Amino acid sequence: MTNIERIDLLKKETQLPHEDWTALISTFTEDDRTYAADTARGIAENVFGRKIFFRGIIEFTSFCCRDCYYCGIRRSNKKVTRYRLTEEQILECCREGYDFGYRTFVLQGGEDACFTDERMVSIIGRIRAEYPDCAITLSLGERGRESFLNLRKAGADRYLLRHETADPAHFAKLKPADQTYEHRFGCLRDLKEAGFQTGCGMMVGAPYQTAETLAADMEFMRGFEPAMIGIGPFIPHKDTPFGSFKAGSTELTLFLLSLTRIMMPHVLLPATTALGTVRQDGRRMGVLAGCNVIMPNLSPLSVRKNYLLYDNKAGVDISAEQSVKILREQMEQIGYEVVSCRGDFRED
Ligand code: 5AD
Repeated sequence: MTNIERIDLLKKETQLPHEDWTALISTFTEDDRTYAADTARGIAENVFGRKIFFRGIIEFTSFCCRDCYYCGIRRSNKKVTRYRLTEEQILECCREGYDFGYRTFVLQGGEDACFTDERMVSIIGRIRAEYPDCAITLSLGERGRESFLNLRKAGADRYLLRHETADPAHFAKLKPADQTYEHRFGCLRDLKEAGFQTGCGMMVGAPYQTAETLAADMEFMRGFEPAMIGIGPFIPHKDTPFGSFKAGSTELTLFLLSLTRIMMPHVLLPATTALGTVRQDGRRMGVLAGCNVIMPNLSPLSVRKNYLLYDNKAGVDISAEQSVKILREQMEQIGYEVVSCRGDFRED
């Protein structure tokens, strides 16, 4: 079978035999990538039209008790200036974002014990009360089942927790032993059960990743049926154990985004900041490869440089107002419109 035939088969069946995943991932050409992007873009256009949802990310704490080898804000990185936003500051970000048209706020942070359920419930409650027409997305890492239920009950709608890798041996090479594959995947199940629109995903080109582990990622995602999938290139951060590994390939990232769209026509698929970091026109390329979401930064400019998961992160010095303006322009250039709505996951 040729790769073009494999892509057609994926479109028809929305799944592939394992050997075809690994073959596709390890032997694709520029022509295959273009074919996948065109196919994926057509599917996205059928489902969403030429519309892009945008979400404001509020990076509210750079404290993290975890020590993931790839991440710039890992516990052992003593060079990070740690900060926490106050409830007021978080709400101020929402206010600013709302005025610029944001209707989804993503609260993202390290795993910070300071943000207990009680505190998160209070923050979520205030955003919910002030912005009943907005979606609230959380990205707080691993927590317990009870906690997820509390956060959901408080009014949060979505939760992003990348699975990072669906291969247990690979997982153990990305994180210290106190973080287990079982716990992370248990969290993903609990999130869905708690009623969250749940997001998973992985970095492309992470150290020790292979065509086999990526095939496992695609298979896991197909089975898990997430509402959202975050896929971006791995980018080294100089003050981490993975600081001297090379960044993931833009081409492979774009190819996998397209295959993901072909496999899951309705999934909410962001063109990530990491993609916009490895290539200046990365977000545009992502949209042309089948992405339908962009997540600009809504954090206060003063703290942005203290939330660097990887080196040279894009957008750290662009104001909330500017970033929406640039986004609109970039999307208009390729015939897409940025729309101001919650942009929930829907299957019909
Ligand atoms: N390069 C790219 N992505 C990274 N992430 C963390 N560190 C890096 C890095 N060095 C991603 C992880 C995490 C998400 C919040 O950011 O996949 O789940």
